[in-house]
Amino acid sequence: MNVFVTRKIPQPGLDLLAKECTIEVSPRQRVLTKKEIMDGVKGKDGLLCLLTDTIDAEVINAEPKLKMIASYAVGYDNIDIPAATKRGIPVSNTPGVLTETTAELAWALLFSVARRIAEGDVFVREGKFEGWAPMLMLGQDISNKTLGIIGAGRIGTAFALKSKGFHMKVLYTDEQRNTELEQHLQAQKVALPQLLRESDFVSLHVPLTKTTYHLIDEQALQMMKKTAILINTARGPIIHEKALTKALKEHWIFGAGLDVYENEPEISEDLKRLDNVVLQPHTGSGTIETRTKMALMAAENLIIGLKGGIPPNCVNKEVFQKKSTM
Ligand code: GLV
Ligand code: GLV
Repeated sequence: MNVFVTRKIPQPGLDLLAKECTIEVSPRQRVLTKKEIMDGVKGKDGLLCLLTDTIDAEVINAEPKLKMIASYAVGYDNIDIPAATKRGIPVSNTPGVLTETTAELAWALLFSVARRIAEGDVFVREGKFEGWAPMLMLGQDISNKTLGIIGAGRIGTAFALKSKGFHMKVLYTDEQRNTELEQHLQAQKVALPQLLRESDFVSLHVPLTKTTYHLIDEQALQMMKKTAILINTARGPIIHEKALTKALKEHWIFGAGLDVYENEPEISEDLKRLDNVVLQPHTGSGTIETRTKMALMAAENLIIGLKGGIPPNCVNKEVFQKKSTM
């Protein structure tokens, strides 16, 4: 079995793959172009890709032998799933292992914005700190405030549960009721406008889909409190970034903490100039432990899929229903 890996991932994952497959890892330490991915999959049975790779129908159909795609990420908006399903190719992701890690980064951003940590660090390094001052860099309290969770799936739930020590009121939006949050935190499921109007902190945990694209636009930002903080560790295009930049510049809200961007890795100079936003380079799942688990999970799924089994983290299980009814 021949496998193409689009970029070096933690070694334990590559070692696991190498036990069962012949692997080719892209030697380029950067995001590959579509053409490079298409060249890479030539003659391969399996593909291990990243969230930065565009895996559209053209890539999926570039190699007739291709049997399985394992993505090293939980979000898979970069992959044309219907095109893979049409060709009978299972696609797997890496859910679960990165849930707590991503929830922790969302909290890190929340604290950074509320207490102006990134701004304070720059201030001190620039030699501007002249001693304690009564009005210096005042932030927002966190305890006893209202936390708004948009999307109460695995990560949104883990993020909300961590608020326990801060005695917060928790509101959430989701298609389904989340009894875990309701039982443990007396959380309330509300409509988006109510969540935006009442929350002191709003954190995004929905996948990027046609319905969540630009979910947070100018109108949504205008509903938020002047003292509110917006956190995004999900996907950039869920926020209308130009509208957010305007909202931050004109102080419609207190601040924002972003790990993801609308046109990643490009970030507008306008946004970068603002000091009420903390900018993180998409490291939600970025711990040594979690990235290692993700590498092993992607490798395991790929091996099982290549051997004709159902990968445990397959996102298009219809592929197997289709096969069994044929
Ligand atoms: C990271 O953004 C992921 O989807 O794993
Ligand atoms: C993502 O894995 C989520 O369900 O929140």
